[in-house]
Amino acid sequence: VATPAPAHAVFLAFDLGEYARRADVIRLMRVLTDDAERLMHGDPALGDTGPLLAQGPAGLTVSVGFGSALFERIGLGSQRPASVAPLPVFAGDQLERRWSDGDLLVQICSDDATVLSHAARMIVKDTRSFGAVRWSQQGFRSSAGAGATAAGTPRNLLGQVDGSVNPTPGTAAFDDAVWATGPDWFRGGTVMVLRRVRMDLDAWDGFDPEGKDLVLGRRMSDGSPLTGTTESDVLDLRALDGQGFTVIEPNAHISLAKARGPQEGMVRRGYNYDHGPDAQGRPDAGLIFVAYQANADTAFVPVQRRLAANDLMNRWVKHVGSATFAVLPGCAAGEYLGRRLLEG
Ligand code: HEM
Repeated sequence: VATPAPAHAVFLAFDLGEYARRADVIRLMRVLTDDAERLMHGDPALGDTGPLLAQGPAGLTVSVGFGSALFERIGLGSQRPASVAPLPVFAGDQLERRWSDGDLLVQICSDDATVLSHAARMIVKDTRSFGAVRWSQQGFRSSAGAGATAAGTPRNLLGQVDGSVNPTPGTAAFDDAVWATGPDWFRGGTVMVLRRVRMDLDAWDGFDPEGKDLVLGRRMSDGSPLTGTTESDVLDLRALDGQGFTVIEPNAHISLAKARGPQEGMVRRGYNYDHGPDAQGRPDAGLIFVAYQANADTAFVPVQRRLAANDLMNRWVKHVGSATFAVLPGCAAGEYLGRRLLEG
């Protein structure tokens, strides 16, 4: 969550089945913790069927999260972080089951797609006897050294510089926005909201360049706000043009998305996806929007309500998947992920 985002990611969601018991989840978490530790060191997993592929590991990270239904099912409903719950329905949602929800999430990131593929395969094999894969989503960002701006901020598939305003890891602003403070077992964990957002790239291609800047409130060229000259300039949502209109449209994406207070703080760390064209050559592409926050009820939900209702960008984007997970705090050597919850 706090490491610079590697170039490739796969998000795997599993359903553990209605007969899963807490003891099964403990066994699974022991296995996954061991897998993660070995693979992150570039070592093969236990029983690895392709040990040479584990070498790398090119910044491999593995994070694990629990979905809301799992807490109830294993008798730990009272320990569920309050905002790890089904999200409200937002205006314009066109959610598909095949991209939504799930009991267990494994997020794997690496700068190398081959290492990533191998790690994902090992984790899926080890999880198979505990449940079924519900969905899998693969994404990519700019590789190291290929950032769009001097600050290294990448572009999304609309061509926008995406990720300019984000708390910096290692700062109090980051810690306050991201790390949960309760329940006890969840201190140091975070709530992840994943939205699969499909983009109508063909329609966007036909839209005029000036309009693209206005829709976002920032320039496509270098990510600078329309009220500034460089990417890091702070927005001025009150600045007026010669005719008395605000320079940044009130319904521009950043006008609506900008946090109304510290409680709306979140870290966005999404990945582009491209599933290739259909037979007519139309793209199936977009953004796996991923936000981490201490509390999704006070951060993602109000921001997304504003965006869903009025964002000018909605004409070109459609939310087709949605999931929320409690991302488990890390664990010390010799422990396993989730122990504080599962053995509480
Ligand atoms: C396809 C969907 C989306 C696209 C393409 C997109 C793109 C962008 C871009 C290009 C920026 C400006 C650069 C930056 O600060 O990163 C931005 C800012 C932002 N977006 Fe989005 N975004 C999308 C969805 C969302 C959603 C679903 C949320 C949260 C509910 C969100 C929250 C934010 C926030 C908080 C900012 C920073 C605003 C500020 O303080 O200046 N975005 N987004």
